[in-house]
Amino acid sequence: EKGGYDSFMEKEINEQPKAVEDTLLGRTDAEGRLTLDELRISPEQLKNTSKIIVLACGTAAYAGTVAKYAIEHWTRIPVEVELAHEFRYRDPIIDASTLVVSISQSGETMDTLMAVRYAKEQGARTLSICNTNGSTIPRESDAVLYLHAGPEIAVASTKAFLAMIAASYLLGLYLAQLRGQLFSGQISDILADLHKIPAKIQTILDSAVDIKSLAQAMAQTPSVLFLGRHVGFPVAMEGALKLKELAYIHAEGFAAGELKHGPIALIEEGQPVFVVVPSPRGRDSLHGKVVSNIQEVRARGAKTITVAEEGDEAVREFSENVFFVPETQPLLMPLLTTVPLQIFACALASEKGYDVDQPRNLAKSVTVE
Ligand code: M6R
Repeated sequence: EKGGYDSFMEKEINEQPKAVEDTLLGRTDAEGRLTLDELRISPEQLKNTSKIIVLACGTAAYAGTVAKYAIEHWTRIPVEVELAHEFRYRDPIIDASTLVVSISQSGETMDTLMAVRYAKEQGARTLSICNTNGSTIPRESDAVLYLHAGPEIAVASTKAFLAMIAASYLLGLYLAQLRGQLFSGQISDILADLHKIPAKIQTILDSAVDIKSLAQAMAQTPSVLFLGRHVGFPVAMEGALKLKELAYIHAEGFAAGELKHGPIALIEEGQPVFVVVPSPRGRDSLHGKVVSNIQEVRARGAKTITVAEEGDEAVREFSENVFFVPETQPLLMPLLTTVPLQIFACALASEKGYDVDQPRNLAKSVTVE
């Protein structure tokens, strides 16, 4: 049932082209307009959303952070992302024009469920992005966007993460369509680029051998740092979480801009630092700033490992190892840059002889608060 792979985790990492494809499949009606799976709120109500609050935990919350960048950019609706377990305890400001978007693979995470219930009590509209059909959170929500990514067995989430990101893009585009925020031509251009993603993920998977051998060589490393910016920031956080969960290694993710505000003090000779590099075609001078960060940590002895867009030759000079991912729109990059980090964590944990499907102390679905 592991389809020839050593673990469910490897199988699921390798299923990601299909998972993303299935998430994107069949989302348009006969007129080419985007649709959701179950809509128990009127499109008019959704259109009048004044604020979105994304609620999730763990990996799903990192998908939520990616969602924030994309949805705000495309819809101009303010988006907050909050860890579901913190939400009820801060007296959040909610009314009937607030759309609460929960993201959950299992649909049974108690922290997320309780936050959704609280939001409903306060009068918010609720929409669930979920992988498990008929689970509690989508059943209790006003609208649902299922991932259709297939069952995820390994405790550490991989394909559901990419599917959550893809689904969030669909939600952002759906809202932009309702509000007339993007022209239909712009929406179909973004959708066309999204449909090219599965093949691009496949090219990363096809070249996994280099990442795996780096992971094997680094099996004894006690700590790894991950830096990213813009949509690369939640990717860095996810890379660090995967390494903690699977390989029991101290790992931390940072927004690269925070480096000089503290974390740079951690850098000493030989400290491995992964850097998720933004597209050189992206906004403003972000790429240049991250390249400077790579130089700064390298000058202090860090072993720099970069994940960058194909053709980004500027990073090569400052990277001990560089993994290139195919080009796409800057906002869509997490669907690609995450993959080398997943392969790295999985290979390193396997090298250490750990059970990557059942990491210690963790459960697939956390049904207690
Ligand atoms: O089922 P959910 O997506 O609601 O689960 C949320 C988190 O518990 C989950 O993502 C967790 O962080 C995983 N262990 C990540 O690999």
